Amino acid sequence: MLRWGIIGTGRISRLFAEALIKCEGSEPAAVASRTLAKAEAFADKYGFGKAYGSYAEMAKDKDIDIIYIGTPMSSHYGDAMLCLDNGKSVLCEKSVALNTKQCEELIDKAKAKGLFFMEAMWMKCRPVYLKAKQLIAEGRIGKIEYIQADFCNFYKYDENDRLFRADCGGGALLDAGVYPLTMITDMLGVPCEVVSRAHLAHEVDMSNSILLRYKDAYASVDSGFEVQNRNNAVIVGEKGSILFGDWFFCSSEAALLDENREEVEKAVIPPEINGYEYEIRECERCMESGLTESPLVPHEGTLAVMRIMDECRRSWGLVYPGE
Ligand SMILES: NC(=O)c1ccc[n+]([C@@H]2O[C@H](COP(=O)([O-])OP(=O)(O)OC[C@H]3O[C@@H](n4cnc5c(N)ncnc54)[C@H](OP(=O)(O)O)[C@@H]3O)[C@@H](O)[C@H]2O)c1
Repeated sequence: MLRWGIIGTGRISRLFAEALIKCEGSEPAAVASRTLAKAEAFADKYGFGKAYGSYAEMAKDKDIDIIYIGTPMSSHYGDAMLCLDNGKSVLCEKSVALNTKQCEELIDKAKAKGLFFMEAMWMKCRPVYLKAKQLIAEGRIGKIEYIQADFCNFYKYDENDRLFRADCGGGALLDAGVYPLTMITDMLGVPCEVVSRAHLAHEVDMSNSILLRYKDAYASVDSGFEVQNRNNAVIVGEKGSILFGDWFFCSSEAALLDENREEVEKAVIPPEINGYEYEIRECERCMESGLTESPLVPHEGTLAVMRIMDECRRSWGLVYPGE
């Protein structure tokens, strides 16, 4: 049994815990909050063995193997470093850090300590996404020529919400754009050119558009907080395409279309729990096999996305406090 600790008791930690308690190879060992009462309530609700009122205290707990970090982006680096320094493996929410430098330091630390470290990029562990990759690897759409993916959600402005706060690492790119960029770099690799524009307001990027150029392909991404979209993604190849269902990064559906855009095949794989079980099982599988890096979510893939996001932010003049 993999003994898990959770840092942070917010929205995503609750969803993660719902999956964790149903994963047979994992044990909900402890949860830490900045507020002990919140940790206790969380532990009671999901059946965690221990509750801590400090992240640092839980990081020292010898009966924990791996810690899931569900805090805002600006806290990831410090929280993950704390866990690694205390000999704990880490599954850290996306975006895994504010920038490439932080991400490299975390990966270097994990390597030096021989610990498992993975970005919680659940999309890459989901069966429908893996099925789409398999179809592409089998040559069913031919060489990829174009990818288009959006992640635009309307959020009402709230000055206290981490999404709109630069001191929390807010903004659409790190919160939402990370998904389409991860898919594109997973399928096409490192682009030779990145061009982007953003609408900056309330200290962060409220929306952005990115064009990625490859030698024989290109890709386009929109992400933002200002409009509600259906969040589709399509991967177009020379002899067909793959069309994900709405909310592509967590969709249960992907259709294979021929060159006339007629559906040839459709994969429909609903989640067994709530979709977060696949990243949990990937951690179980890797740690059981003694791996310190997931083949599904490799470090180099996470870094490739961080580098693009750094480049975009640099061109927009968006710098987070402390960077
Ligand atoms: N994979 C996904 O589907 C998905 C979905 C949503 C979000 N996320 C990611 O998960 C992370 C957290 O997002 P969320 O929506 O769960 O955020 P949230 O609801 O605001 O929760 C974040 C938690 O982090 C802790 N925290 C530590 N420092 C904080 C600070 N300065 N301000 C606010 N909270 C702080 C708090 O827990 P305590 O008070 O208990 O310490 C808080 O409850 C982000 O990295 C986000 O990108 C992933």
